[in-house]
Amino acid sequence: MTLPKNHAAYVIGMALLACSAACAAGSAGGTARPWLDPRLSADQRATLVLKAMTQREKFQLISTQFGDTENGHIMSPGALGSAGYDPAIKRLGLPALQESDAGLGVAKPLRLGATALPSGLATAASFDPALAYDGGAMIGSEAHRRGFNVMLAGGADLVRDPRNGRNFEYAGEDPLLTGLIVGKAIAGIQSQHLVSTIKHYALNDLETARTTLSADIDPGAARESDLLAFEIAIDTGHPGAVMCSYNRVNSVYTCEDDWLLNKVLKHDWHYPGYVMSDWGAVHSAAKAALAGLDQESAGETFDKAVYFDQPLRAAVATGQVPQSRIDDMVRRILRSLFANGVIDHPAQQAPIDFAADKKVAQRTEEAGAVLLRNAAALLPLSSSQSVAVIGGHADKGVLTGGGSSAVQSPEGNAVPGLPPAAWPGPRIYQPSAPLAAIVQRAHGKVSYADGENVAAAAQLAAHADVAVVFVEQWAAESFDSPDLTLPGDQDALVAAVAKANPHTIVVLENNGPVAMPWLHQVGAVLEAWYPGAAGGKAIARLLYGEIDPAGRLPLSWPRIEAQLPRPQIPGAGLASIGLPPQGQPAEHVDYDIEGADVGYRWYQRKGIQPLFPFGYGLSYTRFSYSDFQSRIEHGRVLASFTVTNRGSRKGVDVPQLYATLPGSGKTRRLVGWCRVSLKPGQSAHLQVVADPRLLADFDGTNQRWQRPAGSYLLQLGHSATLFQGQGAVMLPQATWPADAPPTGASQACLASRN
Ligand code: BGC
Repeated sequence: MTLPKNHAAYVIGMALLACSAACAAGSAGGTARPWLDPRLSADQRATLVLKAMTQREKFQLISTQFGDTENGHIMSPGALGSAGYDPAIKRLGLPALQESDAGLGVAKPLRLGATALPSGLATAASFDPALAYDGGAMIGSEAHRRGFNVMLAGGADLVRDPRNGRNFEYAGEDPLLTGLIVGKAIAGIQSQHLVSTIKHYALNDLETARTTLSADIDPGAARESDLLAFEIAIDTGHPGAVMCSYNRVNSVYTCEDDWLLNKVLKHDWHYPGYVMSDWGAVHSAAKAALAGLDQESAGETFDKAVYFDQPLRAAVATGQVPQSRIDDMVRRILRSLFANGVIDHPAQQAPIDFAADKKVAQRTEEAGAVLLRNAAALLPLSSSQSVAVIGGHADKGVLTGGGSSAVQSPEGNAVPGLPPAAWPGPRIYQPSAPLAAIVQRAHGKVSYADGENVAAAAQLAAHADVAVVFVEQWAAESFDSPDLTLPGDQDALVAAVAKANPHTIVVLENNGPVAMPWLHQVGAVLEAWYPGAAGGKAIARLLYGEIDPAGRLPLSWPRIEAQLPRPQIPGAGLASIGLPPQGQPAEHVDYDIEGADVGYRWYQRKGIQPLFPFGYGLSYTRFSYSDFQSRIEHGRVLASFTVTNRGSRKGVDVPQLYATLPGSGKTRRLVGWCRVSLKPGQSAHLQVVADPRLLADFDGTNQRWQRPAGSYLLQLGHSATLFQGQGAVMLPQATWPADAPPTGASQACLASRN
């Protein structure tokens, strides 16, 4: 965006949507407004409205306003004080568009608060698309009950770099996992009669210089990686809108990229919805319109001009942009509104059951926290142990990532006033204190030190049976971390505490992978991500073994920056939190270094071991795999196997199926998985259908998907590097046109227990 954005709450007052339920239902079926007849298809209804619209109304719909008062913007009376707004067109029975961020909950209006889901990475780590749906439905319902009908959710950019400041909004490094998790989250949101976006299309995989950076990549490699994640998510969740991103791809701004918007999205993927811009991502009128942009967002505040007003009208007048393109924009927007029930079920103020919603956030964190280390079975804790709780504001709450997606609890910010004071702050904590939840479970003494004084914290630890150190890394939209180092003195704190008490457990509240120089000095490490509205309770339940840690890493965890495709991010950092940017930001980032081999595929290609591989995560019990068989049935590649719980506790496992395509230099790909809960000694016989979309390569020359003939290696993994069971199947060559790719595996995992 062109202006710095302060997303602090400034709610002038809540207004009901200008068009109420009565307005929508009023003449349903009547001839005056036949598009209000819900028996017609969304396409028919959109076409009918379009015919009745004036040019002025059409232009109103294709450019929204900023919905808030920041950056000198004078908020329209009907706006709700959030990201975007477009007034109702009462004459036609069309409600105002009220747009709110984001994928982890309703970001604004902050003064009313909302329930925060944990990081998107936590949801992804659950490997549970049904849980992602529940989370989406929960935040969608809160948004609808606050009066919003468009949710700026669905972060699907791949994690190509663990230092990217927005990783916590995304779903990891794998296209299938990201596609299914984000797709289901979108479906959940839209089940509540809202339009959800999917964003940021595409390759917005770094925040440094995000409004100018060009992501350079071979188009075929993009189709097999970042674009495949979007393709699968769109196919799964049918988002009503796609948000084009700030960055450029191969030097072209994404919101004016004919290849990305017209060719890939609208032609090849047959996308029927609309493309809206990110806030400040539009740079032209005719070029963007002809490339496929359908709606300019908040141009009056964030773009150099409202391109989709006078400049676009002028382009239509001269014939540079045909009227049919304007009509197509409008039809697409209307179609999505009808298809998702926005018009038939208008969003309006309604009570919210925050207690029930918090449970959804809790379940997500409990399913998505990843146990990275547990030496000598230090965890789970026993209630008889005395505990020293240290650091991370664990006496007050749990951390939230920053920027437009930050959600504040209805009970307020548990630790107000921490830097940065301005955008991308505020730094928000959910008032769910791990300390209180530990106190509830421990019968032994529980003491607390804030960790500011390292020696005092070590002393406290020396006098307790176990020490639990909470460490944190605040990340946010608009900047990347310059390195993997934990901020401040936290490494020294952990090292000192571990020296004083070898029974030290570290709980990470962070954006993702960080260096852990003290790893082998501590007994256990729990990756809690940003833990969400009930994070403190969920963490305590995991530490005390009330539930089994079932999260598996949705990304690879490097040992050091040198293992990454690009060891440095020039210009990364944020001075206001003590990380002054070093060097000048680059104009281009070369993603051809790894191409489609993102994350675990990169490590395999280079023959290097990350600290923890993709798919890794410990449990309090042990699982073994046996009876692996692979075969082809009705053209589908199937693997069946038995999973047995060999330990003495109930637990959850995520057996993962990887395939390696024939040909030299191929790396393995996740093609399916199961998530199964087993009692001690119990077995389950499982069957995974390999997703055919992952069994083909994109042939850029012929613009088609191609499955090479030959032997496909199938491996059953505890992670992307540890296998127990493998086989091979022979497949004949096959090709699919780019606009008719192989279809996804329905019922990807089948289970029977004995
Ligand atoms: C972000 C988007 C967000 C928009 C509206 C932008 O800064 O990149 O993700 O939806 O603001 O707040």
